[in-house]
Amino acid sequence: MSTIYAAKHTRNDDMLYNRSGKSGLKLSAISLGLWHNFGGGDSYENGRSLVRYAFDSGITHFDLANNYGPPPGSAEETFGKILQDDLRHYRDEIIISSKAGYTMWQGPYGDWGSKKYLVSSLDQSLSRMKLDYVDIYYHHRPDPDTPLEETMSALDLIVRQGKALYVGLSNYNVEQTRAASEILRKLGTPCIIHQPRYSMLDRKPEYGLLDVLEEEGIGSIAYSPLSKGILTDRYLHGIPDDSRVAKKSPFLHPEELTGEVMNKVQALQNLAAQRGQKLSQMALVWVLRNNRVTSALIGASKVSQIEDAVLSLNNRAFTAEELVRIDRILTGESQ
Ligand SMILES: NC(=O)c1ccc[n+]([C@@H]2O[C@H](COP(=O)([O-])OP(=O)(O)OC[C@H]3O[C@@H](n4cnc5c(N)ncnc54)[C@H](OP(=O)(O)O)[C@@H]3O)[C@@H](O)[C@H]2O)c1
Repeated sequence: MSTIYAAKHTRNDDMLYNRSGKSGLKLSAISLGLWHNFGGGDSYENGRSLVRYAFDSGITHFDLANNYGPPPGSAEETFGKILQDDLRHYRDEIIISSKAGYTMWQGPYGDWGSKKYLVSSLDQSLSRMKLDYVDIYYHHRPDPDTPLEETMSALDLIVRQGKALYVGLSNYNVEQTRAASEILRKLGTPCIIHQPRYSMLDRKPEYGLLDVLEEEGIGSIAYSPLSKGILTDRYLHGIPDDSRVAKKSPFLHPEELTGEVMNKVQALQNLAAQRGQKLSQMALVWVLRNNRVTSALIGASKVSQIEDAVLSLNNRAFTAEELVRIDRILTGESQ
């Protein structure tokens, strides 16, 4: 029989909490996503220890989506069980997000951006997590065929129904974000957060998106800041058996570990070592470096990875010279 969990009293002491845009909501600078390692085939006890460790370390934000698993929905079920088993007394200290937008169920109502899909999918998410409301509900990807007004009015409705407190957008480009934000503002339910992919190996948000978010007063949470594990020491000496690549995730293939990428990773690793940091840690504080990113949204398969992430915040400052060296490594000008 497992003992009753009591969170550490000191849990919030060493974490940094950043305001999401111009909203009232602050998020931990490190957030934990449940995309991998919380599915039906993963160890419940491992997932539970990851969430407990994260919460004990001051991580208050846990990110889910309807389709996380596999099978789709199972990560929300796992998280619901962890909430019941350990965290139910701490609900008011936790920010839980979910999303809908990718394929979830059969037929025309289980995908993309209709009001029918968003509203019914959130009801399913709430039932899987045994929650009355989520803190943030996202539209997971833009839908080219549904009027943006319909999708945004679904988000507005959900907030008015009390099923979500805040709304966000994910994977929307610059123009889509501006248009959606304007509609949501007029509806009275402002977008408070955008979730783009952002890392040293994917700097697309720097080309306009982060500017728009600043103008609109929207925060941002960078997903896959470690480029799914590539921006760590994980693959420097081959493919470990317990890694995401070896476990044959459909979202990370060995072909992504090209010679060119791994040369950059090695050069970044050398620079991180000179800073007295692990590469994973440097990669996280790099996305957080200019206050335009509210939180770095990591994944983890081991408690030690969350520990690394939280400790990264102790060494956040970059010199101008270090930033130039990183740029040169990333553009391939130096190694
Ligand atoms: N909105 C969207 O469309 C979208 C898309 C993707 C992800 N997301 C969100 O972003 C979250 C994070 O995505 P992600 O898992 O790709 O993030 P990530 O942080 O880039 O990668 C996480 C993986 O990196 C490895 N890792 C982490 N810390 C490490 C360390 N200290 N040393 C060595 N390896 C380390 C682990 O891989 P191993 O498993 O190999 O140990 C871990 O599972 C997801 O859970 C989800 O919530 C959102």
